[in-house]
Amino acid sequence: MINKETIDRIMDATRIEEVIGEFVSLKKRGANHIGCCPFHNEKTPSFYVSPSKGIYKCFGCGKAGNAVGFLMDHEHYSYPEALRWLANKYHIQIEEEEMTDEQKEKQTERDGLFHVSEFAQKYFSDLLYNNELGSAIGLSYFHQRGLSDEIIKTFGLGYCLDDWDNFTNHARRNGYSDAVLEKTGLTIFKDGKCYDRFRGRVMFPIFSISGRVLGFSGRILSKEKQAAKYVNSPDSEIYNKSHILYGLYQARNAISRADKCYLVEGNVDVVSMHQSGVCNTVASCGTSLTTEQIRLIKRYTPNVTVLYDGDSAGIKAALRAVNLLFEESMHVRVVLFPNGEDPDSYAQKYGSTQLQEYLRTHEENFVKFKTRVLLEDIENDPIRKAEVLKEIVRTIAIVPDMIERQEYIKQTSFKLNVSENILTQELAKTMANNAQKAWKEEQRRNNPDSEPASDSPQPSPSPSGSEPQPIPDSPLPQHQQPTSDLATDNNQIYEQQIIRLLINYGAKEVLQNAVDDQGNPCTISLPIAEIIVSEINDDDLSFNNALFQKIFNLYRDAVLNHQPLPDANYFAMNPDPTLRNTALTLMLNPYNISPLWLERKNIAVPSIETHLRSELEETILTFKQKKIEQLLEKNAFELRSCSNPDDTIILMAQRKQLTEIRQTICQQLNRVII
Ligand code: CTP
Ligand code: MN
Repeated sequence: MINKETIDRIMDATRIEEVIGEFVSLKKRGANHIGCCPFHNEKTPSFYVSPSKGIYKCFGCGKAGNAVGFLMDHEHYSYPEALRWLANKYHIQIEEEEMTDEQKEKQTERDGLFHVSEFAQKYFSDLLYNNELGSAIGLSYFHQRGLSDEIIKTFGLGYCLDDWDNFTNHARRNGYSDAVLEKTGLTIFKDGKCYDRFRGRVMFPIFSISGRVLGFSGRILSKEKQAAKYVNSPDSEIYNKSHILYGLYQARNAISRADKCYLVEGNVDVVSMHQSGVCNTVASCGTSLTTEQIRLIKRYTPNVTVLYDGDSAGIKAALRAVNLLFEESMHVRVVLFPNGEDPDSYAQKYGSTQLQEYLRTHEENFVKFKTRVLLEDIENDPIRKAEVLKEIVRTIAIVPDMIERQEYIKQTSFKLNVSENILTQELAKTMANNAQKAWKEEQRRNNPDSEPASDSPQPSPSPSGSEPQPIPDSPLPQHQQPTSDLATDNNQIYEQQIIRLLINYGAKEVLQNAVDDQGNPCTISLPIAEIIVSEINDDDLSFNNALFQKIFNLYRDAVLNHQPLPDANYFAMNPDPTLRNTALTLMLNPYNISPLWLERKNIAVPSIETHLRSELEETILTFKQKKIEQLLEKNAFELRSCSNPDDTIILMAQRKQLTEIRQTICQQLNRVII
């Protein structure tokens, strides 16, 4: 483990423009360096590197991060690998944290498991070519299934002899302990006896991204119905099936190059696709797809095409995979094979050219896929059609990118002959519900002892605390609907301005009017984050945009707990892609104007810092003014629908109070602006 001090020294020494400069040709442009983005194809540069902030961002494809993140994305390094690369570049001696005895033991245990797995893989594949039975049974099985010797070697396939303990004894003779044999699951110990888990099966070794053997999947040869078709390694210190993709080691470069990954169901499908020249193919190791597996793919590409059998089980699996992929911000497409065929059977039947042609011509985006699959048997039943619509909108609501969502709405509108307007309304409703559910879930997680939040609308219009407000089920002004992207409508720009100030200037101190101990007016110097947090907290204000609220909460917690404020590195390494992207976009673009535009127009950026103090005051006042206006709107809505005279009086009083506050704020604003 690299210790904390070393990490700090590495981060201090790192010059992001030098790091990225090794992979991308950069030109200095003002305070930034720009170049053509290495993550997508482009001719005009929109890839920005900011030496002062230590971050990069592509305004074309949206990728962003710091130097470590860049190495992880571009070179597919793990976090420690990226740190080691930087340490090497900047000649920093890595100090490893002294391992405890327990950690050391773990390390030796892991090493033992790796060694025996590698040993087993070599043995099993060796048997195919250097053992009579291995060749007659194992190798001929693979040949019979149309696999070439070359592909058998690429995937390290093998055979485990049909003998109770042939492998176990061979491993023991070579010095491997029963403990490692048991932990890897290669040998099963039971009732004082031991036997080979994979006896009589052809072997598919499962490799890590760096090519180490982690485990095995063994396929039975006979058609006997009692035995499982596949037996897999049990989870162990080195093997966790939900974190591994079959074939990723062999496919990773092809995935990067093609900027696309095919996801199939079976091991044989992976091998067969590779043999047919479609090398960017992986399978989830005998589990239904997991989030961790998707994140592995994401290291290489955001584009996934799911290939499933067209039978009902395949369609069901595909539908599930699509939603999960969307949740991870992947771009998803689907290819369904004719009923009863899988990529392997298709390739064996028709050959590789036909397979590639099929993939090319049958790829559809999920709207097409879902409408086709779901509409197939409903004909003209309006009730079923409404259900299908809702189902499709539910999926669109998961798509994190707003522009993509809009595109899907357009397509669905066209396909199902429903107006975009209706779909957009349905989408807003669904997203609001999702946000409310997520909010409740988060609340429940934060205080597990408290009563579950009630489903009824909040009775009081005044926001309490600074948690995001749940979205009432009653109709609300449009701007109360949460979104999680950058502000797009004018109503959220003022919220964005607050966040922009926090992110860019949170730690910067400005002079504030105050009173001293004797009650005399004086000025004190305070960090901007502290001023914003106290202004917003004191008035119990909250953000409509859930993401802005989340970012604000980060600063609030840091200020209240006297901890360092979130900085560029914090956001650059944040696992939440929407949060990361939004924060970095605001950071590289502190003036609400695209830097591209500024550079094109050759406009000198006015120094915001020269008038930061009035900027701050104006931003906070505008924020408050907008909030008051929203409360007034809500109040008006409640007044209209209120029939109880007592409530009406309370609402009227509230209205009067709100109007007065608004007037004060307007006066203050006028003064600031003048
Ligand atoms: N699988 C499993 N256990 C089983 C059956 C299947 O773990 N009893 C997993 C395997 O990883 C398998 C995948 O699910 O590769 C898909 O199953 P299937 O399509 O039946 O297997 P194929 O690899 O396509 O095998 P084959 O073409 O030889 O039938
Ligand atoms: Mn198959």
